[in-house]
Amino acid sequence: MLLPPSDWLPSAPLEHLNLDWLTMAGIDVAMLRLDLIDPLISGNKWFKLIDHFKAADLIHARGIISLGGAHSNHLHALAAAGKRFGFRTVGLLRGHPQETPTVRDLQAFGMQLHWLGYGGYRARHEPGFWAPWQAQYPDLYPVAEGGGGLPGARGCMQLKAMVGASLARVGWSDYDGWWLACGTGTTLAGLVLAEAGAHPVYGALAVPEDHGVAQQVGRIVEEAGANTVVYELLDASRGGFARVDPLLLEFIEQTEQASGVPLEPLYTGKALLALKQHVQAGTFARGTRLIFVHTGGLQGRRGFNPPT
Ligand SMILES: Cc1ncc(COP(=O)(O)O)c(C=O)c1O
Repeated sequence: MLLPPSDWLPSAPLEHLNLDWLTMAGIDVAMLRLDLIDPLISGNKWFKLIDHFKAADLIHARGIISLGGAHSNHLHALAAAGKRFGFRTVGLLRGHPQETPTVRDLQAFGMQLHWLGYGGYRARHEPGFWAPWQAQYPDLYPVAEGGGGLPGARGCMQLKAMVGASLARVGWSDYDGWWLACGTGTTLAGLVLAEAGAHPVYGALAVPEDHGVAQQVGRIVEEAGANTVVYELLDASRGGFARVDPLLLEFIEQTEQASGVPLEPLYTGKALLALKQHVQAGTFARGTRLIFVHTGGLQGRRGFNPPT
């Protein structure tokens, strides 16, 4: 049984984001704090994993095997879920053995790790990649990197209902769109499917265009048979995935001080900075109400802030 007990229902507060550049432009932002759903199974990860867990449960798998890097938020949430809900987890890691705060946590959560090297990891999309792992772990269910694809997106569809149920708490009767960071585009695709054109979804790309997010989102919505899709992908990568620069770090520090909301530099910090740039460029009319999804990832920030 891979599913959590029925009394474990993740919920996230919806909070006004008070920042001077929003006030000046007359834009209202409410932040969906997915970083607060759980101390360990944080952010969008739970939502991207839940339908994979259901599929694994259906075939009576004893656990999950998946892939990621040495700072992976996905493996971190998966390993924490395995420990919490009592199923086995195996992680296939990019590169050579190294100690990071994330890797130490994975081990503490009981995840069994295999380091694939860089070439071995690059082979993850090749046909036959999974065969030897499935032979070694026949009772584990394989989940692609990051928990992506249509099952990952399906789990994220519930975010719309979550926001709908909380709108009154921020004094809104409706909203005009979503803004969130994209790595694979799975979370965005889930929102696009849930909205079915009712509200636009703006995806701030944390990765450069050649990472194929547009194609990936296209594949998911096509596979889901969606008729009406309204979304836009905007570059927020600042020159590359995981590339940080002084302006970004200063923005994050100022924003954290002004709002009290913790951010990390790979996804949420870049997405919010891109929003600021669009707001200041006049992309949105005064009075626009946006839902900004805080997709978590705060555990990964330890890799950027080594203790002094
Ligand atoms: C913290 C955080 N935010 C956003 C994303 C992007 O989500 P998606 O891959 O669904 O676009 C990820 C991972 O990919 C992430 O770890």
